[in-house]
Amino acid sequence: MLPFSNRPLWLALLALAPASTLPAQAALTLSVDVAAPGKPISPDLFGIFFEDINYSADGGLYAELIQNRSFEYSPLARREWTNLTAWELTPRGGRGDLDVDGAFPLHANNPHYAVLSVRDTGEVALVNEGFDGVALRADEDYRLSFFARRLYAGGRWDGKKSASPLPLVARLETREGAVLAETSFVVTEDSWQTFSATLKSNATTPAARLVLIARERGGLALDEVSLFPAKTFRAHPNGLRADLAQTIADLRPRFIRFPGGCLVHGNGIPNFYRWKDTIGPVEQRRQQANLWGYHQTVGLGYFEYFQFCEDIGARALPVVPAGVSCQNSGHTGGTGQQCLPLAEMGAYIQDVLDLIEWANGPSTSTWGAKRAAAGHPAPFGLKYLGVGNEDHITPGFHERFELIQRAIQARHPEIVVIGTVGPAPDGEDFERGWRLADELRVPMVDEHYYKSPDWFWANLARYDAYDRSRAKVYVGEYAAHDDKRRSTLRAALAEAAHLTALERNGDVVTLASYAPLLAKRGRTQWTPDLIYFDNTNVYPTLSYEVQRLFGNNAVATVLPSTLRDAPTNLAFSTARDSAGDLVLKLVNGASTPRQLRIELVGFTRTSTPAELTVLAHPDANVANEDARPPAAATLSQTITVSPTFEHELPAHSLTIIRIPHAP
Ligand code: AHR
Repeated sequence: MLPFSNRPLWLALLALAPASTLPAQAALTLSVDVAAPGKPISPDLFGIFFEDINYSADGGLYAELIQNRSFEYSPLARREWTNLTAWELTPRGGRGDLDVDGAFPLHANNPHYAVLSVRDTGEVALVNEGFDGVALRADEDYRLSFFARRLYAGGRWDGKKSASPLPLVARLETREGAVLAETSFVVTEDSWQTFSATLKSNATTPAARLVLIARERGGLALDEVSLFPAKTFRAHPNGLRADLAQTIADLRPRFIRFPGGCLVHGNGIPNFYRWKDTIGPVEQRRQQANLWGYHQTVGLGYFEYFQFCEDIGARALPVVPAGVSCQNSGHTGGTGQQCLPLAEMGAYIQDVLDLIEWANGPSTSTWGAKRAAAGHPAPFGLKYLGVGNEDHITPGFHERFELIQRAIQARHPEIVVIGTVGPAPDGEDFERGWRLADELRVPMVDEHYYKSPDWFWANLARYDAYDRSRAKVYVGEYAAHDDKRRSTLRAALAEAAHLTALERNGDVVTLASYAPLLAKRGRTQWTPDLIYFDNTNVYPTLSYEVQRLFGNNAVATVLPSTLRDAPTNLAFSTARDSAGDLVLKLVNGASTPRQLRIELVGFTRTSTPAELTVLAHPDANVANEDARPPAAATLSQTITVSPTFEHELPAHSLTIIRIPHAP
């Protein structure tokens, strides 16, 4: 946050302007009963939703720098892709070939590998471009690893005459060929061996390449070629990109929903996201196409998701398919829902129950032991489990969801199952989903809405009238979609207004998460997103700033308050946090400042310092631009408040007033 002394000129001038120069506004009175016990709300209200969309995982949060490391890319993901995409053979004085093979796979789940052969003595290089380049920093360490086996030494048809070792040099190079780091290996075995080394880059560059150079006549099989920065988030091996993970952690999310979204129920049954495929040694995980048009290595798998949750103090909220695929499967335009045959539902339900055991069971249990073997003997403490995502609520869905839900309830009543009510805040799937939730007594349902900023402002009372005896609500995906789907201040403030309404209704709305979270520049298929990034930078949006402010000013108890004649573009929540601080959140969606008289009824001190935080800009069209200072910066300052005080809300603003330990 910027101190007020660094505030932009427009805001400084605004503060200095005589009151008479401001557009006339009759003061409204916000009256807050600060002595009331208040209404306790969900301690988990604001979290995040991570989906591997827009290159969020591979090439994004997952810190792997090598693209197509396992030679498993396929045209199922993208028409032009092959097993050798992102790899290139370049002769460097020698003659050689690059092929793909599957006769001696490293693992059945990793069926393809590269064959690099040298026909004459002289160098040939196998080059990987990374994800739009390999970003390196000077003097930082990078951990290279790969599997290799010698297929033959000498000529290909020489049989086993020669047992000569095959040397392999690994380099990090700039695109122009300058060497940034180098190491060498010798492949001596005819069976798969692992190799690893740490490389220190001698320069910073956004777009280096990994180069593997063979020079002796012979043939080598190579697989799972991997390069990670040593500095991953919390230094975990197979870890996350530190800057991106920290940007997410700064939101202080109370939960993380993963791994999707549409990604979960997949493009047809074979493309379900199956959690068991994503644990264990990375070279043994079953990879697959991502329905967003690229590839999932699942190197960022269930263990890594749970570990990240634990690292940042968030609850894990995994979502499993409800036994049906995405209704848009197979280019069908909404009619492609496939239902798992009922004969397979028993095994499928067991997978779901195994997930709960993997997360929460003792390390002596079958699946708890696998978690322990991965390095986490203590249970993860899973509480929420999503079943289905935006599914078409058909009889086939109903039947399968019910089987899964009943099995979880019977075996694990401690788990809160979250059902799905379609992709929109109303309509057929919404109605049917809610009816199903009522019928099955589903504890919570997942509502989604991507709507205009005006819609958000017009629907602030949405949850005020929700029947508290029905299922609780998880607003699992929402975002205000402004003109051209830009991340404007207008959109961010509409979301802020929405969040105040969710806080006020935090007894029925238990969880909420903006969507989508991440998007890589140049690889984005869905806008707006909360955080943009490229290989070296992170670009948070103004919507991110709103989420950050709410996450860092989370409250525990909502206090009764009134604002007579409240205009429709003013939203507020009045609450206490778990430490007893009074936290007022006020959103002014108007293009003029708003005078407010704030009455703290029951406030016992005559005056006290309070912390004022403001995100504002006179132009609601502003949006953060990459590599520029924030279009609207958050400013903070200490003010003095008394039982009744006047306060002015700037045009287009979110204001947070925190009064320590009131009353
Ligand atoms: O958030 C992007 C997509 O929007 C999600 O995958 C899906 O659930 C929704 O339609």
